Amino acid sequence: MNDPTRLAVLVWDWPVRAFHWGFALLFALAYALGDSERWRNVYVALGYGVLALIAFRIMWGLVGTRPARFAEFVRGPGAVLRYLGGIARGRPAAHAGHNPAGGWAIVALLGLGAATGISGWLRYQDLGGESMEDLHELLAGAWLGLVVVHIAAVVLSSLLHRENLALAMLTGRKRARASEGAGHQHALVAVGVIAAVGLVIGWTARASPVASEVGPGTGTPVAVAPAARKDED
Ligand code: HEM
Repeated sequence: MNDPTRLAVLVWDWPVRAFHWGFALLFALAYALGDSERWRNVYVALGYGVLALIAFRIMWGLVGTRPARFAEFVRGPGAVLRYLGGIARGRPAAHAGHNPAGGWAIVALLGLGAATGISGWLRYQDLGGESMEDLHELLAGAWLGLVVVHIAAVVLSSLLHRENLALAMLTGRKRARASEGAGHQHALVAVGVIAAVGLVIGWTARASPVASEVGPGTGTPVAVAPAARKDED
């Protein structure tokens, strides 16, 4: 655990950190606005933002820096069991990026985020009726449950490894060998992602029906084509 060859190395590049805190922010805002008819268009736009962020993270998981790649942290059941066995013995193995158990939690967080966003979009297109609404709520609830588990696991992991992992997700630096690090910050990629997701949210918030166009009572938006809205303006 106190291996002197492990130094504070850049593990999470800027795109991963921008993705993480952007994802957490959009998730929190979507939960806060989910029941509000007044903010319905912003809520819908946040859903598009979540999907855009996930699309970027999938791409970065294929071509990004080493610790960000799926191939680096999505491991087989043997590796997960060995890691959990290490925890049970009070000697969890150190990993520069996500540990084998955490890697699967990340895949599930991305998968549930995508499934929640897509089911919300289908509901918004008036596809699937009430069962789609139920499915969307179920997925959103499961996503929230997993986020709670994720935050608890980060606290537990930080205690086990005696390293503040939340701070590491802010600074990008963790105890690791230099060869295990990200190598580059890729700040421009992060700026591009933030700008692109901001544009997606801004554009879709404008294109989605606003509060006055929301059907009475249920909060179900009345589909109004953007062109038709322009005519009304
Ligand atoms: C205060 C709240 C949060 C804290 C402190 C936190 C902290 C962290 C930390 C430390 C990691 C890296 C774990 C590791 O070292 O293996 C991480 C990864 C991750 N977290 Fe969170 N998290 C928070 C909220 C959230 C929320 C709300 C979501 C989802 C909506 C989320 C989704 C993720 C994802 C997808 C990753 C993987 C990042 C990547 O590889 O791109 N987190 N989080």
